[in-house]
Amino acid sequence: MGDMMPLIDEAYAWAVVQDARHGLVARAETAGLTIIGDGTWQCRCDARLTEAGAAQLAALLPVAGAGSPHVVAQIGQSLDGRIATASGHSHYVTGEASRVHLHRLRALVDAVVVGVGTVEFDDPQLTVRHVTGAHPRRVVLDPRGRVARDRTLFSGAGPETFHLVGPEAPGAPGAHRVPVPVEAGGRFAPAAVLAVLAERGMARVLVEGGGLTISSFLAAGCLDRVHCVVAPMLIGSGRPALALPEIATLHDAWRPACRDHPLGADRLYDLDLRAPGRA
Ligand SMILES: NC(=O)c1ccc[n+]([C@@H]2O[C@H](COP(=O)([O-])OP(=O)(O)OC[C@H]3O[C@@H](n4cnc5c(N)ncnc54)[C@H](OP(=O)(O)O)[C@@H]3O)[C@@H](O)[C@H]2O)c1
Repeated sequence: MGDMMPLIDEAYAWAVVQDARHGLVARAETAGLTIIGDGTWQCRCDARLTEAGAAQLAALLPVAGAGSPHVVAQIGQSLDGRIATASGHSHYVTGEASRVHLHRLRALVDAVVVGVGTVEFDDPQLTVRHVTGAHPRRVVLDPRGRVARDRTLFSGAGPETFHLVGPEAPGAPGAHRVPVPVEAGGRFAPAAVLAVLAERGMARVLVEGGGLTISSFLAAGCLDRVHCVVAPMLIGSGRPALALPEIATLHDAWRPACRDHPLGADRLYDLDLRAPGRA
């Protein structure tokens, strides 16, 4: 009987994760897996679960199985907490397995959010071209409407782009202009960003970068999880991954619930910000 069960390798596990996103369990059950709902699973003793399959389930089921709304951030950083050089060069901090992981995260959400700095430096596509799955819609935070109009996200090709701008700022052609109130300091309240996205059917959100954007969502308490991917690299200077308001002592440091998993030569730290933290 055991040899009749499908092998749960990385590709099979990814299919199970995609099913879980839509509440489907038949493929998991065929392979002897019971998904419990909070991102964990039980395995029949004759299930053929490979190490790569187990790693895939562990890393992505908590995102796929989360209810909606759900907001996850992903940051790819060096050992010394940098995401790019001072000049903005960031290709690539993390390795191939981490890029595949990022594309899988994109495939699990309705929308991927980036700051205008990332659009300027990286000219990203924000698609899922390295994996199977649906492209998310793309969202650019640009309170001053300063983005260069020749960026790929505004070319009119690919998934829809939403250009979130201050009430007085111009939108870029090739995208939906969405005005959002600007707070003191020239920033959007992250909760206001999530509200305009939810109104448009985008309640599962990946905040992908850069550091300033993720930090603003983290400081506002608007993230459910953070996938912090650490590459064994030292940059030594440059753009920080996270920058939060100063604290005086380590008693005030944040120690969220955390599980870690290998991602090629990198390591994924999966922070669950809604679970009780560590002492
Ligand atoms: N390794 C990685 O995982 C990764 C991922 C993405 C990007 N990157 C790299 O990161 C660098 C860019 O990151 P960054 O931190 O400098 O910039 P960023 O977060 O991409 O963009 C910052 C800008 O976006 C706008 N913005 C962000 N949050 C906002 C909010 N809550 N409300 C309103 N506006 C908001 C602001 O525009 P205004 O300045 O106009 O106010 C802000 O200055 C690039 O070098 C890129 O290559 C690395």
